[in-house]
Amino acid sequence: MKHSISKIIITAIIGLSVIAPIATFATYYTNSQDEKSTNFEMNILKTIDDENMYKHIKSLSKTPRVAGTEQEDAAVDYIKKQFDSYGYKTEVQTFTFNDYTAPHTIELTLDGFLHIVDPSALEYSVSGHVVGEVVVGGLGKANELQHLDLTGKIVLLKRGDISFKEKMLNAANKGAVGVIYYNNAPGMIMGSLGEANHSFIPAVLLTQAEGEKMVKQVNKNPDTQASLTIEGAKSNTNKSHNVIATKKPSNLNSKTKAKHDIIVIGAHHDSVANAPGANDNASGTAMTLELARVFKTIPSDTEIRFITFGAEELGLIGSNHYVNQLSPNEIDRMVANFNLDMVGSKDAGKLILQTMDDKPNLVTELTQVASTKLNGEPTPVNQGDSSDHVPFAKAGIPAALFIHNPAEPWYHKPEDKIDKISKAKLQDVAEIVTLAIMNQTRVEHYAK
Ligand code: BES
Ligand code: ZN
Repeated sequence: MKHSISKIIITAIIGLSVIAPIATFATYYTNSQDEKSTNFEMNILKTIDDENMYKHIKSLSKTPRVAGTEQEDAAVDYIKKQFDSYGYKTEVQTFTFNDYTAPHTIELTLDGFLHIVDPSALEYSVSGHVVGEVVVGGLGKANELQHLDLTGKIVLLKRGDISFKEKMLNAANKGAVGVIYYNNAPGMIMGSLGEANHSFIPAVLLTQAEGEKMVKQVNKNPDTQASLTIEGAKSNTNKSHNVIATKKPSNLNSKTKAKHDIIVIGAHHDSVANAPGANDNASGTAMTLELARVFKTIPSDTEIRFITFGAEELGLIGSNHYVNQLSPNEIDRMVANFNLDMVGSKDAGKLILQTMDDKPNLVTELTQVASTKLNGEPTPVNQGDSSDHVPFAKAGIPAALFIHNPAEPWYHKPEDKIDKISKAKLQDVAEIVTLAIMNQTRVEHYAK
């Protein structure tokens, strides 16, 4: 329904153009600015081709594209080739990340300890089998461990005040061979050591109740021995990539150089394991490619960067890397991030925008003007922080996620394939984004 309204407007304009040829850019200012501007915009929107997007999704979603795999590399090659073919000089920005496999076996036994223990591993725990006397080490701060003999021992440490990592390194520095952490609040938590590190020793995490009982037991019998086994934990350094095509402003000269605004249109190209990710997120990737093709020849006063990010599914790693390497001057000039993630499922609901802080910003405002003009209604905005707009928003850049809500039942499933893709939905979102960006970048170029 939404789509048919936009088609009517476009059809009406095409109809008119048969009688009077559509104004070219050069004759733009001679007649009514608004009418000419609408003509110009509608002609651009007509060049967006849902078949191109569908074809990209089909090519990209033949296999899952997990970050750091050959399949991601193949997707990166495909994306780069497309950007290059539109005339961009494409940059592949490679970054490393830690790929952690959790252990399959975690065992802890303590001499004479009759209570049931259910140890958890911490993220980045290393594998190993250690046996040693247990020593109570408080919170594991350096000054608390200073006078303890920890050589060859397993240290019992309470959560709190400093990180799990810092506690472990303090213990390892004193010669400890293992760590038993326990919570400082009721229940269990998901613990993490934050990163892989060669100095790590095997460690487990217990509840507060288990830990406190163990402290009592060890205080009673200071020569208590423990055995700690962790198997199957693996940590690898892996590589993923962001793919970047940049359109410089049309009126770039020595005066405007490095002063113009920057807009980022982005989408993650990686998928989760076992899901070919046609909608999540070959759809956003395909749309980024198509928008790069369409915008290549549109005059604008703003730099537009088309970026596909790697390793989003592993925790927004590619977009974080990208934002972290920007200069303060670039961040200052970055006025908008349009994040396209899951923009073409037949089985999902209506288009919505999500911002990290639930507040409107330049992206949502431009989009609402565009969707009202095309479809007769503004795109709703709500809160969401599960995708690549988040690092931009955290850096103070107006950013929003484009997604259909509710999500389709195939989200992160093997069924997320090309047969679930709606060309009409792709076309609708691509038109809204294009019009929103043209409205932001036209002020100067229409006036020149
Ligand atoms: N495309 C999803 C995000 C999403 C899904 C937003 C459904 C709204 C509705 C994204 O690729 C994803 O799966 N994100 C992760 C979080 C991320 C920080 C690893 C998620 O939502 O679990
Ligand atoms: Zn996604």
